[in-house]
Amino acid sequence: MGLIEQAAKRLEELKRAGVEVPVAGDVATSNATVVAEPAVPSVPERAVRSRAEAQGPFRDRPPVAQEAATSAASVPQVGPEEPQRRSRLVEIDLQRLAAAGYVTPTAPRSRLADELRVIKRPLISNAQGRSAAPVRAANRIMITSAVPGEGKTFMAVNLAISVAMELDSTVLLIDADVARPAIPDRLGIASEMGLLDLLTRSDLDVADVMLRTNIDRLTFLGAGTPHSRATELLASEGMERLVEELASRYPDRILVFDAPPLLSSTESRVLATHMGQVVVVVEADRTPQARVTQALATIEDCPVVMTILNKIERSEAGSYYGYYGGYGSYGQ
Ligand SMILES: Nc1ncnc2c1ncn2[C@@H]1O[C@H](COP(=O)(O)OP(=O)(O)OP(=O)(O)O)[C@@H](O)[C@H]1O
Ligand SMILES: [Mg+2]
Repeated sequence: MGLIEQAAKRLEELKRAGVEVPVAGDVATSNATVVAEPAVPSVPERAVRSRAEAQGPFRDRPPVAQEAATSAASVPQVGPEEPQRRSRLVEIDLQRLAAAGYVTPTAPRSRLADELRVIKRPLISNAQGRSAAPVRAANRIMITSAVPGEGKTFMAVNLAISVAMELDSTVLLIDADVARPAIPDRLGIASEMGLLDLLTRSDLDVADVMLRTNIDRLTFLGAGTPHSRATELLASEGMERLVEELASRYPDRILVFDAPPLLSSTESRVLATHMGQVVVVVEADRTPQARVTQALATIEDCPVVMTILNKIERSEAGSYYGYYGGYGSYGQ
């Protein structure tokens, strides 16, 4: 069965299970180059487990950090008995970001923003438990790809900002590409401590290293201080506990992980096992179909997997359907 048939079959399965998936016809066309392809999900029984069950052993743990209850714009309410922990605020240059091709709250109308809207709608709906069948750990979304350079970081940053621009969605963007972190550069911010520090130092609290940003409802957790065992740490049990903690401590928050490629090393596949939704970015006309199939096979246990065709050259309105039909044969 070709990729397109597999995708269509699984899309049907997913729809029958009540999980929200993007509707191909909704996707705007532009040379902004991001298009949602049909989801290629597996629909194991896990997809219908309750969210509370999925939240695991940390679910009853009360929020301890002040950051948990505040958005970038709000004023901290630190009581006398509460810890004085408050995340640092960083200023993203929104003009620079927009000039680099990213969606920003100051320029919300663009083709890219429209396309991101189509992609994020099912992700948010699943994350907020609004799809007919609840998806396990659906507020944990990982962005990955088969091989390097397909647009993971571009997509992760855009998706996180785009979701944060929704009125009721708060987002934690996490740089989980710990060996080659790229997000601080893209956002034009300095980020020293982060994920790796949380994994190696018990004295640190998430709020100590998380950064609030001048984009409302968007916080950022950097990769942290470079470590010789960075990739092992990402695949460690400590990371699993940290993901559980982040997801349960901020249950109303959507976590967006910028992850390493699936086929370059194993840690991304391990990370995927802690996720409810995985977005696989596929660079159009570059990544061989066999590599995509191979990459998708490594994460087939994830409840929802969405593939996104990136960097599409489109010459005319409506050509999206041509790409949809050609999905099974690109890159050969
Ligand atoms: N849709 C797009 N439109 C314009 N530029 C893009 C798009 N997607 C990716 N790029 C650019 O392509 C380059 C590679 O993208 P990016 O760094 O996001 O890929 P990556 O998958 O994160 O790479 P790596 O595997 O090295 O982490 C970057 O310069 C990025 O800005
Ligand atoms: Mg990257």
